[in-house]
Amino acid sequence: MTLTLTLPRPDDWHLHLRDGAVLKAVLPETARHFARAIIMPNLVPPVVSAADAAAYRDRILDALPEKMAFTPLMTLYLTEDSDPEDVTSAHASGLVTAVKLYPAGATTNSASGVRDFTRVRGVLEKMAEIGLPLCVHGEVTDAEIDIFDREAVFIDRVLDPLRRATPGLRVVMEHITTSDGVAYVKSAAENLGATITTHHLVINRNHILVGGIRPHYYCLPVAKREEHRLALREAATSGDPRFFLGTDSAPHTDPNKETACGCAGCFTATNTLSILAEVFEQDGALDRLAGFVSEHGPRFYGLPVNEDTITLSKGDPVTYPEKIDTGNGPITLFDPQMPLHWRVT
Ligand code: DOR
Ligand code: ZN
Repeated sequence: MTLTLTLPRPDDWHLHLRDGAVLKAVLPETARHFARAIIMPNLVPPVVSAADAAAYRDRILDALPEKMAFTPLMTLYLTEDSDPEDVTSAHASGLVTAVKLYPAGATTNSASGVRDFTRVRGVLEKMAEIGLPLCVHGEVTDAEIDIFDREAVFIDRVLDPLRRATPGLRVVMEHITTSDGVAYVKSAAENLGATITTHHLVINRNHILVGGIRPHYYCLPVAKREEHRLALREAATSGDPRFFLGTDSAPHTDPNKETACGCAGCFTATNTLSILAEVFEQDGALDRLAGFVSEHGPRFYGLPVNEDTITLSKGDPVTYPEKIDTGNGPITLFDPQMPLHWRVT
C-alpha cells in the first residue's frame, strides 16, 4: 500500500552550510526539501557583523543552483565585543533573524564565543527590546564538568540566570539532547523554544561507542543515554509547539571525521525528512510531523508558514548515497541504521 503525506514545505531552524566548495555541495541537499533555514555563523572567521552576514548571505545565494528557491535566514555570532547598534540595524533591515551564542570553546569554531556573560548584557537587553531571538548552544565548557552533564549544568548555571536577568528575551535552546532540556523548556512560561535534531531522535551514546568508535555519529552536544533519546522523541512527536526541527546538519569531510581527533557533526540534510517520517510513523504521530517540521518554527520566529507544499510517499525502502562529493573531499551522510520507506516525491 502506498501512503502519501502532504505538508507545508518544511524549514530547518539550525543548519551549517560552511563556505566555498562545501557550501556549493551541501546547499542543494537542503534547498531540495526546505524553504528556509537558520544559518549558523561559525565560519572561520565567524560571521560577527551585519556586513559579514550580508556578504555570507550573498555567497549562499550565489551558490544556489538556478532552479532552486531557498531563503537563508542569517544569524550573527555573539562575541564579547558585539555592538548593540550593529545588531539592532542588522535586525531592522531584515538581514538577520537571530543571534547565536556559543560559550567559548564549546564546539566547532567557538573560540570567539562568550566567556564572561556580563559582557554581553547590553546586547541581550537590546535584543529583548527589539524582539530578536537568541539561539543558544547550551553546554558549559568547564573542564571539570563531565561532557554528558554539560547541558544540564548549563541550564542551571547559565541559561536560567540569563533568562531571569533578561525576561523579555526570546531564546531557542538549540539541539537539546537531554530530558533536562525537555523539562526546562516545558517549565518555562514563555519566550523559550527548543530545536531537536534528526540524529538525536535516532541515536544514543551506544551508537558512537559500541563495537568500535563511529566518528560519523559524534556531534556536539554528544548523544546521551537511551532515556534521553526517548524524552526527545516524546517532545518532538507530542505536538507541543515549543519543539521544532533544527537538523544541525554539520558537514565535515571524511578525513576530518575519521582521524585521531575528529570533528563534531552529523550530516543529515539529504535524508532528514525520510528519517523523520519513519520516526513519527513508528511513534504513531505522522499527523504531528507537519507541526514539527513546518509549523512550530515559523510560529516561534513570528514568520508565516510556507504556502508551498511537499509530498512524502511511502513505498519500498529508499536508498541514499553513502557520501556526497565536494571539491574538498567526501562527506558521509548520516546512516540511521534502519530501512527508510518515505521519500519526498
Ligand atoms: O556537532 C556539531 N557540529 N555541533 C556544533 O555545535 C557545531 C557543529 C559544527 O559546526 O560542525
Ligand atoms: Zn550547530
